[in-house]
Amino acid sequence: MAAKRGLVGIIGGTGLTTLAGLEISGEQVVETPWGTPSAPLVFGRLEEQKIVFLARHGHPHRIPPHQVNYRANLWALHNAGASTLVGVNAVGGIHPGMGPAHIVIPDQLIDYTWGRGHTFFEGELEGVTHIDFTYPYSDRARQVLIEAASELGLSHSASGVYGATQGPRLETAAEVLRLERDGCDIVGMTGMPEAALAAELSMDYVCLGLVVNWAAGKSDHIITMAEIEAAIEEGMAGILSILEQTASRLGHPRPQAV
Ligand code: HPA
Repeated sequence: MAAKRGLVGIIGGTGLTTLAGLEISGEQVVETPWGTPSAPLVFGRLEEQKIVFLARHGHPHRIPPHQVNYRANLWALHNAGASTLVGVNAVGGIHPGMGPAHIVIPDQLIDYTWGRGHTFFEGELEGVTHIDFTYPYSDRARQVLIEAASELGLSHSASGVYGATQGPRLETAAEVLRLERDGCDIVGMTGMPEAALAAELSMDYVCLGLVVNWAAGKSDHIITMAEIEAAIEEGMAGILSILEQTASRLGHPRPQAV
């Protein structure tokens, strides 16, 4: 018997509050033991693949990165049956090769966020759990996205370190230099605790990052919303093409260990 295809979850970030191309079959308002997710879950098909989409900042965009209920979001997507998750993230570029409209599929992250609900393992527990988080992103899902970005001829990096900052303000130039010394290539405000919560739920999680500005101090000007919006306008079509091209491949089940 053919293995069952998984449901693919897509978490849309800044610039992606709806998913063009998604043939919507229904919406579901959900409550979770961790509270209310950012928006209703939107179910549909993207190129034949069953998808569940969630707007991370709500729809319309209204929840700032530090106030997103990441636990409710991840719980809802997991409960809906998603086994693979793509987190689309707008980021600032630190590495000289990662400028506006460039796409990055990071392979590592460093977490600088604080005070966010960041684990499901709290409250009355039977024991203490430490999940492995050596490789925070699913290598299988990363390879699928990287292959599509190459096939589509999009400017992209197949690896990189995502620095997750607290926001909602952008960084100082000195903070970006520190991130760079730490080894970060890109900086964003929403990559964590999302990736860790997905790992706690044993979901295959991958980040699809779109650079929307040079990080603070990495260009000759301060960061403006106008430049961010222009980069989103320029780069989001590529992100959508990758999602369309990979939806079905991402839905293939993980090879089972024998
Ligand atoms: N810093 C943090 N988060 C971001 C940035 C940035 O420069 N650009 C988009 N999200």
